[in-house]
Amino acid sequence: MRRPRPTVNHPDPAPGILACPVRDCGLPMAVHDGRLSCAARHSFDRARQGWWHLAQPQDARSREPGDAAESIAARARLFERGLGPGVVRAVLQLAGDWSGAALDLGCGGGALLAGLHDQGARAPRHLHGVDLSDAAVRLAARRRVAAIFVANADRRLPFLESTLDLATSIDARRPRDELARVLKPGGALIVAVPAPDDLLELRAAVLGRGDALPGGDGVVAELAPRFHMVERARVEEGLTLDAAGLADLASSTYRLARLRERQRLQALPATQVWSRHDVLRFELAPTG
Ligand SMILES: C[S@@+](CC[C@H](N)C(=O)[O-])C[C@H]1O[C@@H](n2cnc3c(N)ncnc32)[C@H](O)[C@@H]1O
Ligand SMILES: [Zn+2]
Repeated sequence: MRRPRPTVNHPDPAPGILACPVRDCGLPMAVHDGRLSCAARHSFDRARQGWWHLAQPQDARSREPGDAAESIAARARLFERGLGPGVVRAVLQLAGDWSGAALDLGCGGGALLAGLHDQGARAPRHLHGVDLSDAAVRLAARRRVAAIFVANADRRLPFLESTLDLATSIDARRPRDELARVLKPGGALIVAVPAPDDLLELRAAVLGRGDALPGGDGVVAELAPRFHMVERARVEEGLTLDAAGLADLASSTYRLARLRERQRLQALPATQVWSRHDVLRFELAPTG
């Protein structure tokens, strides 16, 4: 006889919102005896650590899909030192009160999901996180605040049409048409991206120039016409980083990842860095 899996305390997904990820299936999935399954008998085990693997073989093209374990860990350390909590607070503020189901796309180690959960009565009733990296979902599931899935946000999201009240993305994927499909009419999408002058002083010191990034305006253009922006905020977080902190920053941002840039970065003395984000709240435009 199969022994039941130790899933105690890991939140289940909201009922009636998951879609089977098997190609051309897409039927509703529900939890039965600790497994997720659809009426076509596709079924998915829950990992011992509590998350569900919904990525299909074609989604995991590289040996280590999603961000590398090293970069997930570096991001978590920087968060502890103060780069990131301000962005989470801004997302929570723009999110306001929700009673339904929320999805954090590219949830990483789950810092935002934990922040949403800690809002208590103001928090969405059901939290979900999706990431393509095993290292990320392991960290996120350990928090036991959300149902966590390995899935590829560049493919079909494993949710049924019009089932989510809130979707969030911090420095992560934001597939416009899929988000428009899974959000309910009137649902909100909150996106945080590096602002045009994110890490500007550091980029100038390391690269010899500090080009402006597309920032929030780029996201507004990218998500139109399915979403329109209703509110935005700017977050600046400053921190002095030593060599270890600068190395963490290099491995957690794609923009300073080249070897030559890393070497220059590591030759710097303790350096003040300024991380800047645009945080935007969108509403799903009504389809006409
Ligand atoms: C820069 S990190 C941001 C993580 C988290 N939102 C945070 O703020 O700490 C980007 C995340 O997106 C994930 N990711 C990359 N490609 C993905 C994909 N195709 N589908 C889902 N997640 C992906 C990475 O594994 C990583 O955890
Ligand atoms: Zn199926």
